[in-house]
Order: sequence, then C-alpha cells, then structure tokens
Amino acid sequence: MEQKQIKPLIAGNWKMNGVSQTAQELAQGLAAHYANHENPNFDLLICPPFTLLSTVVDIVKESGVAVGGQDCHVSVNGAHTGDISAEMLADIGCDYVILGHSERRQDHFETSELVADKAAAAHAAGLKTIICVGETEAEREAGKAIDVVHEQLTDSLPSSLSAENTVIAYEPVWAIGTGKSATPDDILEIHQAIRKKLAQFASDSTEIRILYGGSVKPENADEILKIQDVNGALVGGASLSVADFWAIAESCD
Ligand code: PGA
Repeated sequence: MEQKQIKPLIAGNWKMNGVSQTAQELAQGLAAHYANHENPNFDLLICPPFTLLSTVVDIVKESGVAVGGQDCHVSVNGAHTGDISAEMLADIGCDYVILGHSERRQDHFETSELVADKAAAAHAAGLKTIICVGETEAEREAGKAIDVVHEQLTDSLPSSLSAENTVIAYEPVWAIGTGKSATPDDILEIHQAIRKKLAQFASDSTEIRILYGGSVKPENADEILKIQDVNGALVGGASLSVADFWAIAESCD
C-alpha cells in the first residue's frame, strides 16, 4: 500500500551532546531555516539533552520546529533521583519524547515492557512518542531481524497507540553511529514488516509514521527517504550540524 502522502518527520537526536552555546547556534540556525522555508513538506523535531530543553524551546517557539526529550520516567512524580517525568517535559513545552532507543535498552537495561509503560505515561501527559526498535548485527546475521523487530513492537507498544500520538523508528543497532546504513532493500523489507505488524495494534496503522535511523547523512538521505513506508528519519550524528541536518530535511522536498 502506498504511504507517501504521510507528511515526513525529520527528527534530530542530539544524544549527550551540547552545551548552551552550541545548542543556541544549532537551534537558531534550524529555526531560521524552517521559518523561512515556504510551506515545508516535512515536520522538523529536535531532541536535545534535558539540560538544554528550555533554552531550545525558547529559541524555536515561533518557528514551527518541535522539541522533544530523549527519555522519560513512567511515574508522574516522586522519589526517583535523576529521572524526568513526561509531565515535566510537557510542562516546559516539549511535544515529543524518544523512547526505547537502543542506547537506553543497552546502557540502562530498558525492556520493551518498560518502554510500553513509559509510552503510556507520555501519552497521558499529552506527548507524542517515538518508539525505537531494531536488531543487532548478530541478530541480523542469524536471519532474525524481522522476528526481533516484531517482538520489540509487540512488547513496546502501549494500548494508547494511535497515528496521532506515536511514531516508530526502525534503527538497526549496527548502523547507529557506525557510518554503515542499511541497504534500501533491507530498509524496505523491515519497514513493510513493521507497517503490517502495526495493523494488529492500531485502527489507523496505515497513517503511523515509520522513521529510519542509523547513519543517515546528506549523502544517503535522498535515497532512504524515497523508500516506500519510510516516513522520515531519526538522525544522530548529522543532527549536530545545521548544514547537514537541514540538507537531510530538504531531501523531503
Ligand atoms: P546516527 O544515530 O545517525 O548517529 O547513526 C541515529 C540514532 O541513534 O538515533
């Protein structure tokens, strides 16, 4: 089924990068590009570290650029030292939160069940979620990529899921930050499998945006964003440069 009428989302995941000055330069540069772009055919989102969210929200607020967090807690508030709740993100003007990124699954032992609980909390707070899935290199070599992604989806999606509040990001772990992106055929195969699987969980599944992530850069963005059922990109390293991130976004035009 052709999905290309879905408005693409280009999302930048700054990860643990940036201090006030670099964040201001990046946010100002992107806000100016986006605000000056006539009728952009894509949504633009940036996800800085928690410490920079307020600064970035203030800078981009008139531009149409959205801002998101990179994680949230399942609870609204309470004794959880070092954590941030979805309400807190919504309160300072965030629209989105990234959940279940492979770096959090690896570094913080986050399970898919926890991701589903966080997503439910985020939806209750009025945030949109970007739920990440993706196989490791060993899983791909063992021919298990689709099975792994199916299982992660089944366990990570909350019952509150809809096209309005959820974006899926397919990020093969072996392609993140390595310079090796998946081939167009591999991306197509997994994105189609995700689209099909989503039908079990949401009545508006054909409208859910499915992003590709993993070494997206200006040189490969055009080819990747043209693939059927690819409705945008989740960009790490290249989102730390205004020129590179904007060039990726403009590939949607
Ligand atoms: P990358 O990261 O673009 O640096 O590969 C993508 C991501 O982890 O979201």
